[in-house]
Amino acid sequence: MEVTLVILKPSAVQRGIMGEIISRFERKGIQIVGMKMVKLTDETLEEHYSHLIGKPFFGRIKDSMQASPVVVMALKGIDVINAVRKLSGVTNGREAQSGTIRGDYSMSVQENIVHASDSQETAEAELGRFFSENEIFNYSQHLLPYLYAGDEL
Ligand code: TYD
Repeated sequence: MEVTLVILKPSAVQRGIMGEIISRFERKGIQIVGMKMVKLTDETLEEHYSHLIGKPFFGRIKDSMQASPVVVMALKGIDVINAVRKLSGVTNGREAQSGTIRGDYSMSVQENIVHASDSQETAEAELGRFFSENEIFNYSQHLLPYLYAGDEL
């Protein structure tokens, strides 16, 4: 099983749709193994979006991510990194497919509701950035036989 990091951005917190977004992950059968509300610091954001630091819009992304606290989540499942990226939709909410989170809730590139790790390496680094080891829980999912076939596990 993989674990991935999701951030419910200020666009989700301020619009009061945190619960709806969390429900989507739950309904899909993804296990929530860590979750907390945090305020993102400059330092954390410079690490988290280090690939965008040179871009002219980096300042506004930082402001947007600091406009309110965010919710960080650790989500577990088979191939969950890819599954959660698919559920999130492409970066630009206007382009994202209907049925995806960004496609259903966002009309913007920046105000696009969620962040989701994009690879195994990124997921590991991002989980380590936002969670300490004892904040990610290992507990059995009792409905597992109804979520996966035995040979998928
Ligand atoms: P990026 O890592 O490219 O996308 P994703 O979140 O889909 O992995 O960009 C990080 C965030 O930066 C993105 O969710 C929204 C913001 N952003 C902009 O505001 N404008 C842009 O042109 C880009 C590329 C990103």
